[in-house]
Amino acid sequence: MRLMVATGNRGKLAEFAAMLGGSGIEVLPLPAGAETPEETGTTLAENALIKARACHVAFGGASVADDSGLFVDALGGAPGVRSARFAGEDADDASNRARLLGEMAEVPAGLRGAEFRCVLCLVGEVGEARYFQGVVRGTIALAERGGNGFGYDPLFVPDEGDGRTFSEMLPQEKDAISHRGRAIALLAAELGVAAGGGRVTGLDHVQVAGPAGCEEAMRAFYAGLLGLEEIPKPEPLATRGGVWFRLGAQQLHVGIEKEFSPARKAHPGIRVTGLASLKERLSRAGVAVIEDGLLEPYGVNRFYADDPAGNRLEFVEIIG
Ligand code: IMP
Repeated sequence: MRLMVATGNRGKLAEFAAMLGGSGIEVLPLPAGAETPEETGTTLAENALIKARACHVAFGGASVADDSGLFVDALGGAPGVRSARFAGEDADDASNRARLLGEMAEVPAGLRGAEFRCVLCLVGEVGEARYFQGVVRGTIALAERGGNGFGYDPLFVPDEGDGRTFSEMLPQEKDAISHRGRAIALLAAELGVAAGGGRVTGLDHVQVAGPAGCEEAMRAFYAGLLGLEEIPKPEPLATRGGVWFRLGAQQLHVGIEKEFSPARKAHPGIRVTGLASLKERLSRAGVAVIEDGLLEPYGVNRFYADDPAGNRLEFVEIIG
């Protein structure tokens, strides 16, 4: 299958190519000189649709576009959908980072939380649109660190990492936990291919964390209640603690943390069929459902619940 990626951002294109290359999908860049449409939407999903649709109309065939941004808690969610133009209409990555550091100058360490969000819109051969989203939480560093990646990567320290910024990580380390990596993994699962084909040195996985001794509670929750299949610890990671489950095209790793803090909540998305019966099963077992409703603007049912270690999980219904 050929898939055109509707972006002029080389950093994004590299991540699509790395994750989908080798999977049987031929990732095509926009033809040289192709015009990109104005992003007039007010949400990531609207902008992703505008870009994917324009690409599909101009060049035919399946097209995918990403719209993404950095949402900083202390700035009320800014720069958000305006991340690419935070420092003004002629902004570049360096001036956007300088503005962010300036706005965060007085913000103390405990209040520097932020998240990257990504929405992918896939417009298929016959023009139908499908959406995939990914989120990664982290904190804004006090100064830039690292030389990889693009955009705000030198300032973003993911909660699920070891204190390095995205720019200090290898590309595949970033892809395994990033907002775009997660959305691309969902896209790949939808297209029936394994993301990361050909370039994975370790293993892509979604990681949640629990306190020492949480294995049995996690087994009861993930295998017993959710019905996920427990799998043997993958060879390259055999020395790590925790329990592994199959989660669609990915693995879910319940890691054990010596100094577990519920503040380091992960946010993996779990796609299920029969959302209503799962919700009922969870509530019969005393697991509280937090926020229940429609995932706008996709019109897809979803709810959130916390696992025994306090990691927030998003359950999204598979439709179609
Ligand atoms: P878009 O092209 O409107 O989606 O702009 C997204 C902007 O958000 C980019 O220009 C970056 O500034 C920022 N951004 C999105 N994803 C990332 C990422 O993975 N790393 C760093 N910055 C990102």
